[in-house]
Amino acid sequence: MKEYRSLNINKGVRGLLFQEFTRMAVTASLCIFAEIQLYLLISRSGKNFLIDSLWISFLAVITIFLFSFYYTFRSSSLVKKQTDDLSTYVTQLRRGKWKERLHWQDENEFSIIAEDLNALAEHIEEQVDTLQRLAEEKSILAQQAQTAAAIEERQKIARDLHDSISQQLFALTMLSSAALKGERTREDLLDSLNEISKISAQSQLEMRALLLHLRPIQLEGESLSDATIKLLRDIQQKFQIKCQASIDEVPPLPQAVEEHLFRIIQEAITNILRHSGATHLKCQLTERGDSIYVYIADNGMGFQLDSAKAGSYGLSTMKERCEEIGGIFTVRSIPEKGTYIEVLVPIKRGEYIESN
Ligand SMILES: Nc1ncnc2c1ncn2[C@@H]1O[C@H](COP(=O)(O)OP(=O)(O)O)[C@@H](O)[C@H]1O
Ligand SMILES: [Mg+2]
Repeated sequence: MKEYRSLNINKGVRGLLFQEFTRMAVTASLCIFAEIQLYLLISRSGKNFLIDSLWISFLAVITIFLFSFYYTFRSSSLVKKQTDDLSTYVTQLRRGKWKERLHWQDENEFSIIAEDLNALAEHIEEQVDTLQRLAEEKSILAQQAQTAAAIEERQKIARDLHDSISQQLFALTMLSSAALKGERTREDLLDSLNEISKISAQSQLEMRALLLHLRPIQLEGESLSDATIKLLRDIQQKFQIKCQASIDEVPPLPQAVEEHLFRIIQEAITNILRHSGATHLKCQLTERGDSIYVYIADNGMGFQLDSAKAGSYGLSTMKERCEEIGGIFTVRSIPEKGTYIEVLVPIKRGEYIESN
């Protein structure tokens, strides 16, 4: 801890200046008196009064000037030393040395400033501590959230595998072993084979949809429109579903908005592939006024919106993602007719283009 010694300005700056001025006046008067005595002693006393008084006045002025220079320099040095100390301390604070404190010995105007600066440093030190603690807590929480999300995702995959593929494999085993046992007519065997073929096709579809869902969600530098077109082409190739797409090139959006929108599109399409049994899928991405509009529809079996499955978060996550970026999410479903989702996200053109 650095020790700052104040110079002796006991009564503050005004006191110092009074003190120095008085000293100057006393010493200058004494000197002038001595000079007059000396001059009178060495001059031819009183012969020429005018010259004598001129000389004495000249000496008096010189003496006063010399002493005023000396005392002004002395007092200003005292004040300067203290302001320098304060300024050095402020510089140290600016460089992040919050732990340093000023120790002022005397009480004057500067000691009040020093005290205030010490209080300020203490306050900054506490704030920095709090900030560091918060940052640490945030990183721990982020880590925990990441772990929790990974566990949840794993549980969801396990559940999906169990609900769909595992059940279907079980059905396949039962059907095939029943077909192998006992006396079976040709028609029975054909029926069983038909069933086996249907179940394995469904199982393959579920597996592909699950893999699609597990694909990395980053856009990998692609625009939202390009990534959506790529995804739809992929689906058209791998699944027996007709895709009707109308994808416009939309203005550049902040990365978070693009990623959220892409995740919503991905989840909606996965739902269609897994649950709808649809033969047609419609996808639209366009700019509507000052908003981005996304529409994804199918002609599948539909479902009752109010009979949400426990442990299913796809639809609610889509809604949350949409609201997080300031959008409106709508889902409509008519049993036996199909389902559609709509997303409308307002955009702030100028800001987005600059931030990209
Ligand atoms: N396009 C769709 N067609 C038919 N049913 C759907 C569709 N989308 C969602 N569903 C139904 O809504 C349920 C909840 O969907 P979701 O929240 O995405 O969870 P998950 O896909 O994990 O089951 C699904 O299990 C399904 O029954
Ligand atoms: Mg889903």
